[in-house]
Amino acid sequence: MSNNRIQIFDTTLRDGEQVPGCKLNSEQKVIIAERLDLLGVDVIEAGFPVSSPGDFKSVEAISKIVKNATVCGLTRAVENDIKVAAESLRKAKTARIHTGIGTSDLHIKHKFKSNKEAIIERAFKAVQYAKSFVEDVEFYAEDAGRTDNEYLARVCEAAIKAGATVLNIPDTTGYCLPSEYGAKIKYLKENVKGIEKAILSCHCHNDLGLATANSIEGVISGARQIECTINGIGERAGNTALEEVVMVLKQHPYLNLETNINTSMLYGTSQLVSESMGIYTQPNKAIVGANAFAHSSGIHQDGVIKNRETYEIINPADVGVTESAIVLTARSGRAALAYRAKNVGYELTKLQLDDVYSNFLSFADRKKEINDNDIHQIIETSNVYQ
Ligand code: KIV
Ligand code: ZN
Repeated sequence: MSNNRIQIFDTTLRDGEQVPGCKLNSEQKVIIAERLDLLGVDVIEAGFPVSSPGDFKSVEAISKIVKNATVCGLTRAVENDIKVAAESLRKAKTARIHTGIGTSDLHIKHKFKSNKEAIIERAFKAVQYAKSFVEDVEFYAEDAGRTDNEYLARVCEAAIKAGATVLNIPDTTGYCLPSEYGAKIKYLKENVKGIEKAILSCHCHNDLGLATANSIEGVISGARQIECTINGIGERAGNTALEEVVMVLKQHPYLNLETNINTSMLYGTSQLVSESMGIYTQPNKAIVGANAFAHSSGIHQDGVIKNRETYEIINPADVGVTESAIVLTARSGRAALAYRAKNVGYELTKLQLDDVYSNFLSFADRKKEINDNDIHQIIETSNVYQ
């Protein structure tokens, strides 16, 4: 794989599914996994197999049907978790075990009541044990965002020594600034002995709204995998949104970083996940929100009708949206009204448009958004048509 290829590790079915109230059944998970495979993700994190018999069953079912992507199961640095994950992944064409442990002082002291050396030892043993089942082992240093870099580098070295192929550097609490997260990746790239044997992975949470920016800074600084979810769903404020990082890289080709994602499937996949989980995507959500390609102010509408690129940096077809929407409201101008009228069959002269426009404004002041039926009514009841 070329050095500018960014692997997309989708964790919609694991970190994403941790959102309260949006549990999926096994059949729904299989349908989403099939779609992710077609979308072109490199890795599907299918679940946390030891967590429940249902999760085990889902990971097993997904392992059987996925054709291209690597199927991955999460574990703690606990032997039984790893054994169960390996069992659930047995039928996968390519399987990965994702094991790890918390490495920040807070996690070591309060969660594990342990010390730094003992954590390194556990990390090493977990990877070594996972390696006895599968070739591809990813190690996560939970709360790496708040772990001091020197210690983090030592943990990473131990994981590589034990055979880790991927080192996940999670900003578990979404705390880092992009510059800080980028510097962390750069530090690890430059200071971890044996780093050439593994790739670094970005796993960022969105507590401060920085997950996408942090992941992008991470890959600019040398990471080669991004962990993300469709629509950015996930614990608390969510994870990095897959559609956002993929489109950032596509729209900035000078970064020379590519993914394997078929971007024209992004909108449909977003709809599938949102409907299956019952989580509605906010209208102003980047890339896949209902308003992402909708223009409602007169100045913007006039520009977009003349040339789409005046106010759009993405061609909607590139993400699977049929076309930009010119939304008629009381803020719309004559150009937008003429455009929408033409779409429903009326070629208005300048004089006719003036007359219809004043009728339109009084209508639009009473109704939030004007639809095609309203346009017919507005035109037919204008003086020009009397
Ligand atoms: O956010 C996190 O640290 C995680 C790990 C378990 C990978 O989701
Ligand atoms: Zn996470």
